Amino acid sequence: MATTRDHFGSRAAVIMAMAGSAIGLGNIWRFPYMVGEYGGAAFILVYILCSFILSFPIFLSEAVIGRGTHANAIGAMKQLAPRSGWMALGYLGVITPMVIVSYYSIVGGWSIEYFFKSFTLNFGEFRPTGWVPLIFNTIFLACSAGIVAFGVKDGIEKFNKISIPLLFVLIVLIMIYSVNMPGAEKGVEYLVKPDFSKLTGRTFAFALGQSFYSMSLGMGIVVTYSSYVHKDENLVASGVGTVLAALLFSILAGFAIMPAVFSAGIAPSSGPGLVYETLPHVFSGMGASYPIIGTIVAVLFFFSVVVAAMTSSISLIEVGVAFLVEEKGIKRRTACLLVFLLAWVLGIASVFSMNAFGKVDAFSSNFLLTAGVLLVVLFVGWKMKKEAVREEITNRGTVNNKIFDVFYFLVRYVAPIVVVIIFISNFVL
Ligand code: PHE
Repeated sequence: MATTRDHFGSRAAVIMAMAGSAIGLGNIWRFPYMVGEYGGAAFILVYILCSFILSFPIFLSEAVIGRGTHANAIGAMKQLAPRSGWMALGYLGVITPMVIVSYYSIVGGWSIEYFFKSFTLNFGEFRPTGWVPLIFNTIFLACSAGIVAFGVKDGIEKFNKISIPLLFVLIVLIMIYSVNMPGAEKGVEYLVKPDFSKLTGRTFAFALGQSFYSMSLGMGIVVTYSSYVHKDENLVASGVGTVLAALLFSILAGFAIMPAVFSAGIAPSSGPGLVYETLPHVFSGMGASYPIIGTIVAVLFFFSVVVAAMTSSISLIEVGVAFLVEEKGIKRRTACLLVFLLAWVLGIASVFSMNAFGKVDAFSSNFLLTAGVLLVVLFVGWKMKKEAVREEITNRGTVNNKIFDVFYFLVRYVAPIVVVIIFISNFVL
């Protein structure tokens, strides 16, 4: 079977695809606000620690499952733990991304709508629900599924290889403009001023939750993408590249957004309010004094949001498609159509009600994701044979031998305890 499967062509391709999944709305609309509210540079420090001490080993654990089996999320578990309770990990790995893509694509749709509105800087009131969002959601989903239909190499790899470098260039351009706006210093200060008194257990839980979401962990994505990684590729190197790319993008997004918001004299916010209410205000304000500049910045920004969301949504779609192709013998194109239809139907409630949208988001990103992460670390740390895990991380003893023990300790002991605490705190906080 392995010979009929696609592979990513190079390490750069692996990192671009993984970073494409990681870099998305989480980096743009949640991270900058969290930094400002939870301690500035002090929060960034905690976030970096969480990324390397927890998210990174969890990422590698999923990569061990995916690359070790070269199979989709459910197929992988069928190979490793057939007919056992661990199959739940496989099923969760396919269900969670389906649920997430159903509302994630709605945001993608809003972004397409705002991209068009940017040309006139006439944004009007933000209307997140109704027929117009449904139409743009359909367009966004169809484009994402269309890219996946081209295949791993000709669709996903190609799209990410262009999009990720482009996203970095665009966000740096916007950042340069933003930090030079009058009064931008206050925004910079908001992001960097360290306030260690804000670092509570709660902040830590938020940082970790955000880091898991941002790295697309616990939902079959890293398993599926790494199943397309070549046996000789160094997983640790690809993983480090991905973590660094996602971190860097988050920080750049912060410096692209917050200085402009403060320069316009508006209070910062997060989520849809930041991207579809606050920022349109900022862009229109720029446009009042320099119409062309306001338009250019707005167009580039919303274009970036669309692309960042799409590189994430194609990773969500690929999980379901890989499952249908490999387990059900369905043709890739048909599988893409089926996933598109299912996501579209699942999204109907959210597209007509923000209440439903919020519930689906909270349920999937707090509950399903955390459950998935917990099962992954328990499986790799306690159920798989240590030697099998070592083989995969060290490429049969040729690389990473020194860090293996550290990785294994983190996955076996540290991660499960911390994730259980997060799981419980999601219910009580
Ligand atoms: N990681 C993406 C982001 O930060 C979101 C995402 C979550 C993508 C889950 C895929 C899976 O926006």
